[in-house]
Amino acid sequence: MTTVQRAADAALPSRAGQSEPTVRESGEAMREQHALLEVRNVSKRFGGIVANRDVSLDVPAGRITGLIGPNGSGKTTLFNSIAGQHPIDSGSIRFDGREISQLRTAKIARLGIVRTFQQTRVYRAMNCVQNMQISTAQSHETLASMLRKPSASVTERAEALLEFVGLRAKRLLPAGDLSFGQQKLLEFAMALMSGPRLLLLDEPTAGINPVLINGLVDRLKRANAEFGITLLVIEHNMRVIMNLASHIYCLAHGELLAQGTPAAIRRDPRVVDAYLGGR
Ligand SMILES: Nc1ncnc2c1ncn2[C@@H]1O[C@H](COP(=O)(O)OP(=O)(O)OP(=O)(O)O)[C@@H](O)[C@H]1O
Ligand SMILES: [Mg+2]
Repeated sequence: MTTVQRAADAALPSRAGQSEPTVRESGEAMREQHALLEVRNVSKRFGGIVANRDVSLDVPAGRITGLIGPNGSGKTTLFNSIAGQHPIDSGSIRFDGREISQLRTAKIARLGIVRTFQQTRVYRAMNCVQNMQISTAQSHETLASMLRKPSASVTERAEALLEFVGLRAKRLLPAGDLSFGQQKLLEFAMALMSGPRLLLLDEPTAGINPVLINGLVDRLKRANAEFGITLLVIEHNMRVIMNLASHIYCLAHGELLAQGTPAAIRRDPRVVDAYLGGR
């Protein structure tokens, strides 16, 4: 049964006046109303620079949400705050109803939030399969698991995901020998290794040639539709984000400037101005 059906089932009896939902059922229905990720009034400054001011956004479970904005508008800073890479100055970040803004990076990763970086972070001297294996070791963050010989199931999963992103033929090549676009595909596959619930992708298509972009967009959609992974995607490529996301937030100068459907965002004069350097 889908979560939406479950919520509907929990709500229906009382609406029909037949019986009250149990505490557990009504609790479940309540939870369905929360977004998977809820960012509320988050502010973050670096010395005199206010990188994020009072930013609020929702990332609903099972959806692809976009985050756009001109250079320096605070997009990556928000990702760093969500992933626990630095403390926020004020506000709240809730994941699946739980406050995570005080938690450390490793704990947040264990809860199921995984992020990729604007600059790829692959181990250039290791081959693709080894990169995949080390990425799960890191997500569990114990020295024992880092040092343990990778189990067959980890290797199988690594190979299956490399196949999924179209890198099967390159799996035994050092990651440093891959093109930049292929490294981004590898990084995406590495992010999938731990089976995240929420994937934060920082400019996944930047620097990739148009042919690989189409393939990557297709894989992102499949990760969402087939693996059920919720995505929050930072993108500068408007064609890509309009095609991917069901809802888009736009930052400018660290503040939320606009939000809406791709169609609404595309014709929002504030967004157009921000990108043209107006505002
Ligand atoms: N660690 C840091 N120390 C000092 N200033 C920082 C730091 N990280 C970000 N900033 C500043 O915060 C502001 C927002 O930067 P951020 O990287 O979040 O923007 P962005 O929207 O991701 O930009 P881009 O599209 O270029 O990646 C910028 O003025 C940046 O210089
Ligand atoms: Mg950035």
